[in-house]
Amino acid sequence: MRIFRKKRWLLPGLLVLGAALLLYARFVEPARLTVRTRTVQAEGLSRSLKVVFLTDTHFGRWYGVDRAARLVDAINARQPDVVLFGGDLLDNYARDRDSLDLEELAAQLGRIQAPGGKFAVWGNHDYGGGAVRVYESLLEQAGFQVLNDESRLLEEWSVQVVGYDDVLMGWTDPELYQLNRDIFQLVVAHEPSVAEKISAPGECFVLSGHTHGGQASLPLLNRLWLPAGSGGMVRGDYTTQDGTQVYVSSGVGLTKLPLRFLCPPEIVCVTFEPAV
Ligand SMILES: [Fe+2]
Repeated sequence: MRIFRKKRWLLPGLLVLGAALLLYARFVEPARLTVRTRTVQAEGLSRSLKVVFLTDTHFGRWYGVDRAARLVDAINARQPDVVLFGGDLLDNYARDRDSLDLEELAAQLGRIQAPGGKFAVWGNHDYGGGAVRVYESLLEQAGFQVLNDESRLLEEWSVQVVGYDDVLMGWTDPELYQLNRDIFQLVVAHEPSVAEKISAPGECFVLSGHTHGGQASLPLLNRLWLPAGSGGMVRGDYTTQDGTQVYVSSGVGLTKLPLRFLCPPEIVCVTFEPAV
């Protein structure tokens, strides 16, 4: 009789728990912006370099422009030398264009302080739905240089920043993946799979996004969700077979579903120290 009573409460209890988890994933975790920190020994660096990397903001229906101010404040609080953006600025420009305040977004991103420069690459969402017509101009208005299969030498730190085109929606000459071995290469590529194409073992660090870390990080199901271009990487630290170090960020915003679970939004602060 006692067991029977317990079972009567099992289903309502599970429903309440499920509803609570759903509310948490919808309203609490997406607002829990976290800062991941890493320290990396970099061969050939002339002095310490602090980089903040953000990616996959997906501004739009689920992640409004009104959240940009807090994001920018969190970046500036780290006092970075250089800021890198990994693409997917807008979620779905065709769907959200009437409600997106792009002037406000450019103004907020323009507040990011980085004396060594602000650089960005293209993501797959920056190509679709008309976003291709606004992406580069918006970021340039905010003081970013968009690197499309291009690099910039940061002489003060003896570092080369390399930015690749999106592998799903763009195209890159394979020869550009053969990087100069004489100087430390700091690579930004939207999709993690780019890291496996690069030839610069031991003197290269890749920052990527795209996967959102699964976004709702459900055990076992995470890998089923992984999109094309992930290269089998979900989030966190990886080393390719060639020895290239990679960090895959779970990103900032939301796409497809307005949920995050066990995978909070993040910015990444990497301090590169000269190897001794
Ligand atoms: Fe994305």
